Amino acid sequence: MGRLGKGLDLNVSQPPEAQPHLILRRLKHPEPAELALLAMLDREAFGSTGLSEYDLALMAHAGVLLVAEEAQVRVGACQLMRMVDDPGLLWVVGLYILPGFRHARRGRAFLGEIVSLLPSWGARGLVLTVHPNNEVARRLYRHFGFRRVDSLPEFYGQGEERELLILDPARESQQVVGGING
Ligand SMILES: CC(C)(COP(=O)(O)OP(=O)(O)OC[C@H]1O[C@@H](n2cnc3c(N)ncnc32)[C@H](O)[C@@H]1OP(=O)(O)O)[C@@H](O)C(=O)NCCC(=O)NCCS
Repeated sequence: MGRLGKGLDLNVSQPPEAQPHLILRRLKHPEPAELALLAMLDREAFGSTGLSEYDLALMAHAGVLLVAEEAQVRVGACQLMRMVDDPGLLWVVGLYILPGFRHARRGRAFLGEIVSLLPSWGARGLVLTVHPNNEVARRLYRHFGFRRVDSLPEFYGQGEERELLILDPARESQQVVGGING
């Protein structure tokens, strides 16, 4: 998540409270053609930091690989992995809506479904990184109550700064660095 995620595309106006109905499918044993497609879409969303077929196969088997569909059309994907140091938290490795489907509440619907599925994975919260300029993603996470807990100047290497965000009911009473706007 937020491996690239720098996109600033703020010129498209939001339709009033449209609520897309997304079906989430978990891919556990993706075929080679599926892996190739997902790797291509990941690169499209995150550029050079997009996951490879190798990475995606690992995510499918050792983590959670999800695709979101609307009226049987794929509109997005997400990968999750459990944090070893706190197994109640899942790291959102990547989450994207396909370019032609963005800015119409599908990101919100997708993340909402993921949050509602957390108990089914024995998890209570999510962790992710976002580029400080990715305003659409930051708004999305703010809507769900994610809190910024750190600013990481070179998290993905030189020049690849990110904010670390957490959605964790267990931390609500603890001190944080600031809200996403902080
Ligand atoms: C980030 C992403 C998943 C969001 O999905 P989306 O379907 O485009 O976003 P939504 O329509 O659900 O809107 C999410 C929030 O951004 C706001 N938003 C969406 N499009 C906007 C636009 N063009 N201008 C201003 N705000 C916008 C929405 O109002 C909403 O905020 P709100 O809850 O305060 O109203 C999607 O844009 C994407 O895939 N981007 C590229 C990959 C990426 O950056 N992933 C996240 C990496 S951290």
